[in-house]
Amino acid sequence: MKRVFSGIKPTGHLTLGNYLGAMRRWNTVDQHEADALFCVVDLHALTVDHDPGRVRRLSRQAATLLLAAGLDPQLCTVFVQSHVDEHARLSYLLECVATDGEMRRMIQYKEKAAAERARGGSVRLSLLTYPVLMAADILAYGTDEVPVGDDQTQHVELTRDVAVRFNQRYGRTFVVPRTTHPEVAARVMNLQDPTSKMGKSDDVGPGVVYLLDEPEAVRKKIMRAVTDSGSEVVHDREARPGVSNLLEILAACEGGNPKDLAGVYETYGSLKKDTAEAVVELLRPVQQKHKELCADPAYVEGVLREGAEKAREMARPRVDAAYRAIGLLPAG
Ligand code: TYM
Repeated sequence: MKRVFSGIKPTGHLTLGNYLGAMRRWNTVDQHEADALFCVVDLHALTVDHDPGRVRRLSRQAATLLLAAGLDPQLCTVFVQSHVDEHARLSYLLECVATDGEMRRMIQYKEKAAAERARGGSVRLSLLTYPVLMAADILAYGTDEVPVGDDQTQHVELTRDVAVRFNQRYGRTFVVPRTTHPEVAARVMNLQDPTSKMGKSDDVGPGVVYLLDEPEAVRKKIMRAVTDSGSEVVHDREARPGVSNLLEILAACEGGNPKDLAGVYETYGSLKKDTAEAVVELLRPVQQKHKELCADPAYVEGVLREGAEKAREMARPRVDAAYRAIGLLPAG
């Protein structure tokens, strides 16, 4: 059976982008067809200025939402990254294989480092090495497939390069993984600025639909989404990013193809109305289940404890093998 690994970073409240770009496929496809692991990657949340209490709260909330959205611990492994030491252990070895030039070329590093500097802050070294830790997450498990949104493609490419290089230098140790993306909504855009990604760390509330937004808030955000000049409903990401984003969201919610859907609508208003209702209906069961799970925190903790145990057992042999392969003396 193929192995699937993916992760989500607790740097903000989870968004419709996270759900449509990644989580939905984890629920509907990956956990049924693969030996799948899903991880709240809390170590990655420490790469930018953070409040410790908030990271803890968001980690718990992300784990609860993954279960609310449909991950079933009978079918897959759900856990928190920092509970499994193998990630950090392997990350250091991979730092000895990756180069600083590779790190500096990463788009997300460039963007986040620039934003940090613009705020007058300094850039944490861990922000630069972020993709190596991500490679460790993936490679520790012999992962075949990494289901992610569009924005993670470059990181998975780097993971492949590092795996190939390690295998060539020190002997075959890692599986070289490939990326999978959803057919539609692999990049959900900000509703107020449809040329930039809907990101959870953005505090631009009006352009971001959060999974726990009340129905009225979802409706308001979608009805106020920025649309393009002109009034014809067409799917063209370059020329009509706002309308195309709504068409993609609607297609992802209801199934179907954004181009076909474009032909169904004559006005932006009716497209927005239907999109808003589709998103409200999509989120309703997730929010209901989230409420139930919040009333039973011991259940979520138990899932995470067992998940970490399983993950540790899966990762340890390969990480130990990497330690031996690279030249470290076994502890005996
Ligand atoms: P993160 O936490 O930013 O996002 C989690 C997943 O959601 C997808 N996503 C989106 N998809 C479509 N449209 C959007 N607007 C959107 N925003 C987010 C992301 O592509 C991702 O699949 N570096 C990763 C976390 C990570 C990881 C890993 C992922 C760490 N280690 C190992 C896979 C495997 C990240 O920051 O995702």
